[in-house]
Amino acid sequence: MATGQPTATGATGQEETATSAAAQEGRVAGTTGQRMSPGQGSATGAAGPGPTAGAAGPGMASATAWHRGAEAVAAAGPGRSAMTPAAAALAALGGTGAREWPRPRSCRMITIANQKGGVGKTTSAVNLAACLALHGARVLVVDLDPQGNASTALAVEHRAGTASVYNVLVDDQPLASIVQAVADIPGLYCAPATIDLAGAEIELVPLVAREARLSRAFADYDASSLDYILIDCPPSLGLLTVNALVAVAEVLIPIQCEYYALEGLEQLLRTIDLVKSHLNPTLYVSTILLTMYDGRTRLASQVAEEVREHFGEVVLSTVIPRSVRVSEAPSYGQSVMTYDPGSSGAQAYLEAAREVADRAAELGQTG
Ligand SMILES: Nc1ncnc2c1ncn2[C@@H]1O[C@H](COP(=O)(O)OP(=O)(O)OP(=O)(O)O)[C@@H](O)[C@H]1O
Ligand SMILES: [Mg+2]
Repeated sequence: MATGQPTATGATGQEETATSAAAQEGRVAGTTGQRMSPGQGSATGAAGPGPTAGAAGPGMASATAWHRGAEAVAAAGPGRSAMTPAAAALAALGGTGAREWPRPRSCRMITIANQKGGVGKTTSAVNLAACLALHGARVLVVDLDPQGNASTALAVEHRAGTASVYNVLVDDQPLASIVQAVADIPGLYCAPATIDLAGAEIELVPLVAREARLSRAFADYDASSLDYILIDCPPSLGLLTVNALVAVAEVLIPIQCEYYALEGLEQLLRTIDLVKSHLNPTLYVSTILLTMYDGRTRLASQVAEEVREHFGEVVLSTVIPRSVRVSEAPSYGQSVMTYDPGSSGAQAYLEAAREVADRAAELGQTG
């Protein structure tokens, strides 16, 4: 495809230029013109209750999804009208299909946590998930934050009263019964959060095995058709986050490249250690992602350097730049990958997702 060459990514800190051909194409190709109210895109949610929905469950899109996307793009030619948003995104991401990404042998479960607010947890969960799904993986995003930001960004129904993670944690409802398919991106699913979840921290307290409610729900859930489960945590170290830490092996910590970024990190690491020693011996910090990097400031590079010195190889080499497109995308019920795939933010998340996928290969976790 002669479409978008990757624009500047990663550590440049430059905002994408509106004149970039790739950006232009991406916006044309995407569906940026339509603002969605939260949950509006969820008509697709009705398309299937998720993994247990038989042949249409997650992953049925399969390993060939990328190839099909590429073919759709090729077939669509220069006039993009025939393309799906996913195919258009792949086209504008240009050249990403040189090889298929490694897929894990079994489902990788990754909790995205940082009790500091606004560091990019949700943005990273949504965009990494979208990238992985666009490249043929089958991905479930579990929204564990009462704010429901990941559900909004993925445009799945999450009005109060919708069957959600709350019902799974508090009422023992099966996880499969609340999972919704995400419109536009085949292979991407979301377990939504509703505002009810705000009460869960308290309602969980008297319940048996209150820290392991999510882990139990996963145990009863057939994840064999999934490649990744990404859990988006609230900005706290309460019972919801602890449930997420008990339920997975991997933790991904997004760190914002700003002055107070490292404050509170010690407390998070201590919590992870406590969960590891008492509740979940398999838990470890597999990934640190530097977010909202502004290359114009020395502070950002100093923070990045400090984090790398401290955490070494766990830190992804890709850095997510500050990008207006990244912050705009959720208000359209989209990931930045479909909203503006040519933007620097989309390209950076693409690289970060590829690193995440490659790490499984390095660890010998791929099939
Ligand atoms: N790379 C980026 N460039 C510009 N804005 C960004 C970027 N990443 C995230 N943002 C914006 O920063 C804000 C916080 O991001 P996000 O919601 O992902 O953080 P969070 O850690 O999930 O927050 P919370 O702790 O409230 O759940 C959002 O408005 C988001 O759109
Ligand atoms: Mg969030």
